[in-house]
Amino acid sequence: MQEVYEAVRWADTLLVACPVYFASVSAQLKTVIDRFQCAWAAKYLLGQPWVAPEEDRRAVLLAAGGMKIRRHLAQVRDVVRSWLVVVNYQLTGDVLLNEVDERGAVQEVDGLDGLLREAVASLIDRPPAPMAGGTGRRTRGGDERAQSEPDSC
Ligand SMILES: Cc1cc2nc3c(=O)[nH]c(=O)nc-3n(C[C@H](O)[C@H](O)[C@H](O)COP(=O)(O)O)c2cc1C
Repeated sequence: MQEVYEAVRWADTLLVACPVYFASVSAQLKTVIDRFQCAWAAKYLLGQPWVAPEEDRRAVLLAAGGMKIRRHLAQVRDVVRSWLVVVNYQLTGDVLLNEVDERGAVQEVDGLDGLLREAVASLIDRPPAPMAGGTGRRTRGGDERAQSEPDSC
């Protein structure tokens, strides 16, 4: 998990991809999300979020399900969004595909290229907000915040 924590702390953007399993995210993704309770505590109990809200971090979700039921995809999005809130990433776009169980079905989705472009554009179509007192660039390991953060939960 340490690598995942580091990635979430320092990434510019996140791309989260997940199949629908039993109307929710996969167990693998949920297991990762559930190890973020330490980030929840950092934000809500200690008032020291891993990522400052003004950093304008963004994420996009790609999810695919086999059934017709769009609600399953909405539920995936809810779970992912509730995790991203804890780490102060904004879910700016998503591509939620249903009825794509057959091999190759994703390639048949009408307008898929456009949907993907739109989602990716939502990550980059505004310049990132400058960080307080800084240059707007995030330097890995070189600032006070990095030095004061614990290595693990
Ligand atoms: C265990 C399991 C549960 C699934 N549950 C759902 C579901 O609730 N709703 C849905 O739309 N698709 C469901 N599917 C279909 C998958 O979302 C779909 O086949 C997906 O492309 C599988 O991705 P994978 O090949 O990475 O496992 C399920 C598939 C599996 C294997």
